Amino acid sequence: MRTIAMIGTGYVGLVNGTCLAHIGHSVQCCDTNADKIEWLQQGRIPIYEPGLEAMVAENVAAGRLSFTSDMASAIEQSDLLFIAVGTPMAPTGAADLGYIQSVAEFIGRHLTAYKTIVIKSTVPVGTGRMVDSWIRANMQNPQIPFDVVSNPEFLREGSAVADFMKMERCIVGAIRPEAAQLVADCFEPLNTKTYFTTPESAEMIKYAANAFLATKISFINAIANLCERYGADVEDVAEGIGSDSRIGSAFLRAGIGYGGSCFPKDTHALNWMADQAGYNFGLLKEVIQTNEEQKYVLLKKLVQALGDLRGTTIAVLGLSFKPNTDDLRDAPSLALIPALIAAGASVRVYDPVAMSEARKWFGSDVNYGIGVYQTIAGCDACLILTEWREFITLDLEQVRQLLKRPIVVDGRNCYSLASMSGHGIEYHSIGRTAVSAEQTVLSRL
Ligand code: UDX
Repeated sequence: MRTIAMIGTGYVGLVNGTCLAHIGHSVQCCDTNADKIEWLQQGRIPIYEPGLEAMVAENVAAGRLSFTSDMASAIEQSDLLFIAVGTPMAPTGAADLGYIQSVAEFIGRHLTAYKTIVIKSTVPVGTGRMVDSWIRANMQNPQIPFDVVSNPEFLREGSAVADFMKMERCIVGAIRPEAAQLVADCFEPLNTKTYFTTPESAEMIKYAANAFLATKISFINAIANLCERYGADVEDVAEGIGSDSRIGSAFLRAGIGYGGSCFPKDTHALNWMADQAGYNFGLLKEVIQTNEEQKYVLLKKLVQALGDLRGTTIAVLGLSFKPNTDDLRDAPSLALIPALIAAGASVRVYDPVAMSEARKWFGSDVNYGIGVYQTIAGCDACLILTEWREFITLDLEQVRQLLKRPIVVDGRNCYSLASMSGHGIEYHSIGRTAVSAEQTVLSRL
């Protein structure tokens, strides 16, 4: 059992801190945002993450997890200091290291005994060494030893707790093997495979993993666009290529592009790093560009189906960047909804979980529905942007009856073409032939 200070109670810090407590460590989660800490102390969880609230309560009750805004004493009382603060995208596309630097300087000023400092935040290659020098520059007693270790995380929003508990691999990048082992030992109860690397390689692994997954998504989306032009079906193509173990079936779901707090930011940061090093990472630039364009494919389909959008009312189902999260950061909805409004449509939105987040982003630009069926009632068409369970199990008869025109434009291929048949709905999806209302009725006869 170790004593850990988790610095930063955003998504990464809160999930990691809670899960580390759950596997037996004594964890203090710190944040400079006193209001957030007060919320957490009251058991209120500022993010929607399945399983997290119960796990926080259990570990607080067991005395393994606590929340504090007194970072100095948390640092003093802990063996390991995990840095899990944000690295938002700067206007240049680079990762902004402002928060990392101020935490490193703070640690430097408060270092009174040996500590292992673990970087959890996603940081550009070379940051570990910069953190080392920021700490060193602020130490009152330069004789005190410390290590900086890179330990990137690969948790997915919406399944982060389960991802942690069933960790596929642990990456530990350190200069001193003893420090690397200390960090690896923290995850020992998870019985996961640990890869020991240099700090630079560990930092690169994180970016390369996210960029590769983003590449798979943009690739299948580009293939989807071609499928539409040649009458092929991207679902069959994805299955056909994914069953080749060299390719793998994961991350081949065609749609309206990736969003969220990681892929967009990390692909831009890697591209920026490449540019800085004088290397033109053209492949990655195309991945980013393909993703940008993909966010708008539903607009083209809608215009094809409805013609002029002026005076229409469009229902939008799903706002978060993927199901099981209320996160709207870089969600395709943020690009598409303003484009619908600019084209003259009124927009009525509904999301099972992200409605209060949505109000922060869209304000009074859209109308907010209550439930799926109230939202689509009387609308000229319905768009599906997120594959929430509620939207993949719609009562299609009701959908047809409630819509003014029975048009569904599905950005996540929630339905097989066969399952749409017989409902009298004009169905447009990604990388597949559009099905007219007459066709879907006819196929039932
Ligand atoms: C991702 C990485 O998976 C995770 O390892 C890292 O730590 C953080 O970034 P996350 O952003 O939570 O996790 O979500 P993920 O499930 O990876 O999906 C990202 C985006 O890609 C979503 O918008 C999703 O809709 C999209 N996606 C994913 C597709 O469009 N097609 C797919 O086949 C898979």
